[in-house]
Amino acid sequence: MRSSRALSQKIGQVVASMAKPISIEVWNPAGKHRVVSTKSMPGTRWIRLLTDADCRLEICTEKKTILDVEDIQALIGDKCDGVIGQLTEDWGETLFSTLKRAGGTAFSNMAVGYNNVDVNAANKYGIAVGNTPGVLTETTAELAVALTVSASRRVVEADQFMRAGLYDGWLPHLFVGNLLKGQTVGIIGAGRIGSAYARMMVEGFKMNLIYYDLYQSTRLEKYMTAYGEFLKSQGEAPVTWKRASTVEDVLRDADVISLHPILDKTTYHLINKDRLSIMKKEAVLVNASRGPVIDEAALVDHLKANPMFRVGLDVFEDEPYMKPGLAEQKNAVVVPHIASASKWTREGMATLAALNVLGKVKGYPVWPDANKLEPFLDESSAPPVACPSIVNAKLLGLEVSKL
Ligand code: DGY
Repeated sequence: MRSSRALSQKIGQVVASMAKPISIEVWNPAGKHRVVSTKSMPGTRWIRLLTDADCRLEICTEKKTILDVEDIQALIGDKCDGVIGQLTEDWGETLFSTLKRAGGTAFSNMAVGYNNVDVNAANKYGIAVGNTPGVLTETTAELAVALTVSASRRVVEADQFMRAGLYDGWLPHLFVGNLLKGQTVGIIGAGRIGSAYARMMVEGFKMNLIYYDLYQSTRLEKYMTAYGEFLKSQGEAPVTWKRASTVEDVLRDADVISLHPILDKTTYHLINKDRLSIMKKEAVLVNASRGPVIDEAALVDHLKANPMFRVGLDVFEDEPYMKPGLAEQKNAVVVPHIASASKWTREGMATLAALNVLGKVKGYPVWPDANKLEPFLDESSAPPVACPSIVNAKLLGLEVSKL
């Protein structure tokens, strides 16, 4: 139930510690635990969960999109139990030491990815680092599918043409693109999101699959085999699958390649000039993982030299900027990191991030399986008494819930 007491006690304030004043709104001012959120987040359940559990919640209301380290230090102030932050922020030595000095023990990214977080620094200060897996798997995969279809069928180019008043009648050559059905989809990184994307493409377009991952995805392989059998039983051609032993094998074979690795030093510029050069001239490349996985300057050159090669990008190497020349390429579909932007997902991410911080502040154990977080997202009941997903739980020796 909504606690009107806490929700109604929202007041605007300015934090004036450190050099700069930062505007905030405060919920439940008398709450015992001080929790800061560096951004307003979708939904109200996350606010309610915190305020009902005796937290004073301060939400930064600064207009500036990306807060710098000094802004966040000012928000943390002298006493802070936990912070909910964003993937645009640089959570390293400075912020974790500031949070520790303020008595804090918990930080959660409102994201599944946490390449913006120096987990070693968090470990050093004994601060738990939360993330928000599961709730964005399908949503992100759906956007990767949307980028694939938009790029393959030139939807954005055609939309711009139409709005510019250039359409003066049907023509046989007008915006001819690629058919997906029966082609091969390649996945680099067959984790949760990569596998969900693969299934959508296979089920939706009857595509064959080739994937590269350090680990075998037995689940995906079993699914592919079973789906192929099902198609056969319907008198249709079965889909096929293959686990590639190198990234290059995927790039050479696939008509569509979608990137789903985490970003670390082994995947930085995974797609570079040499690897672009071995892809099919009419291939479609999709990236909804992290921008630096692609050498974006090399990609711009490749797009210029190969007009039939297409790309769908949700993320950028120097986000929020695009490398020079990318915006002018008609064979690129570009969207501003919106892969997880469905209402349900963003509200769920806010809930999981808030519960990570709340759970640690309250001393709750950690949920045993970060792949199964549904009980935290079910709005009809109270969430489990646990932190949904703490990435450094083992290193910090945090207790695991028996639930
Ligand atoms: C994440 O959660 O890591 C996503 O990039 C947000 O959309």
